[in-house]
Amino acid sequence: MSHILVTGGAGFLGGNFVLNWLANSDAEGVINVDKLTYAGNRKTLAPVEDDPRHIFSQTDICDRTALDDLFAKYKPRAVVHFAAESHVDRSIHEPGEFVRTNIVGTFTLLEAARAYCGALGADAKVVFRFLHVSTDEVFGSLGPNDPQFSETTPYAPNSPYSASKAASDHLVRAYHHTYGLPVLTTHCSNNYGPYQFPEKLIPLMIANALGGKFLPVYGDGQHVRDWLYVDDHCAALREVLARGRLGEVYTVGGWHEMTNLEVVYTLCDMLDQLKPKASGSYRDQIIFVKDRPGHDRRYAINARKLERELGWRPAETFETGLRKTVQWYLDNQAWVSDVMSGEHRNRLAKRYAA
Ligand code: NAD
Ligand code: DAU
Repeated sequence: MSHILVTGGAGFLGGNFVLNWLANSDAEGVINVDKLTYAGNRKTLAPVEDDPRHIFSQTDICDRTALDDLFAKYKPRAVVHFAAESHVDRSIHEPGEFVRTNIVGTFTLLEAARAYCGALGADAKVVFRFLHVSTDEVFGSLGPNDPQFSETTPYAPNSPYSASKAASDHLVRAYHHTYGLPVLTTHCSNNYGPYQFPEKLIPLMIANALGGKFLPVYGDGQHVRDWLYVDDHCAALREVLARGRLGEVYTVGGWHEMTNLEVVYTLCDMLDQLKPKASGSYRDQIIFVKDRPGHDRRYAINARKLERELGWRPAETFETGLRKTVQWYLDNQAWVSDVMSGEHRNRLAKRYAA
């Protein structure tokens, strides 16, 4: 059987991608390579646990020997690279792991892929792909009237997270130009949907709202993000993997800019309908807290190239995507308690102790 190798497939995006891929494809299996950090969870993969097309390997992408063994054993047709440290707030407090996984890990994976691809026969080499999943954060911060980010926006990363992702993007680009590795890179805006770890805005707010805790909005709440439902992102990645032009970059976004405060209000109003409180509104739990250091003011994506070349547009509106997301969290409280380890609870408690 032919396989694709997915890194970070027990995390939010990678997990959704693996489920989405196996639900849509009879043809190819998945080698799921994940270290299982605090953000990775086997429970996310429960729906495919007994699917013989899904092979899970608890492996660190910095481990070259283990990667070489996986390439040699399964001879993947493509690599889809999600594995990363992904949370900006963590990168501010503990940047070291971001440099290790996002830069050294991507370098190690590129080296393993280069060695593997170099030894492939002509037919296999023509179809091999390395899809690198990056972020819009590498482009820095937009002013209120600036045009959206696009494939030609210069890099200006502002956090240790985005700087480490930018470094990994540059390595991926260099491996194409120098060694001819058949790479594709995507830069996506903020995703939301099922299985997102409750440290990111939307799942954190849902968990805190239901737990009767405060809803901490950073600064004045007027920071803008461009929201994309995770299944729409998975569909975009499938298109890029199937038909993207080698060495090209594609920006992926939801065409849906909102301030954080608007997002939290919408979420509270939806919860008021779906799970009303005994009295009052979830909005009563909102508080404003100290801003994130170096907090980027606005991200927004121009996804025209993806539409023009590959015919992709998001299928969900923010309203429909958020409703599915909120309902999923209401129905899957056990998943939330499982992933909220003691370590993560202590971290949050410490941060908000003051
Ligand atoms: P996540 O934190 O939910 O998941 C990351 C996964 O990578 C986890 O399963 C973790 O165990 C695994 N991992 C971490 N270090 C590893 C290592 N050294 N070796 C192997 N596995 C390791 O992240 P996410 O939100 O799913 O993001 C996935 C990718 O998409 C990241 O590269 C991120 O930069 C990018 N991205 C995310 C978003 C978003 O909104 N979530 C938007 C644009 C781009
Ligand atoms: O833009 C793509 C990026 O989106 C991805 O590359 C990152 O991996 C992903 O984490 C996300 O980064 P953000 O920093 O935008 O996401 P986060 O959910 O942490 O925060 C979204 C916005 O909400 C941001 O402006 C900070 C704010 N926020 C966040 C949290 C956790 C709050 O106001 N309160 C909070 O408690």
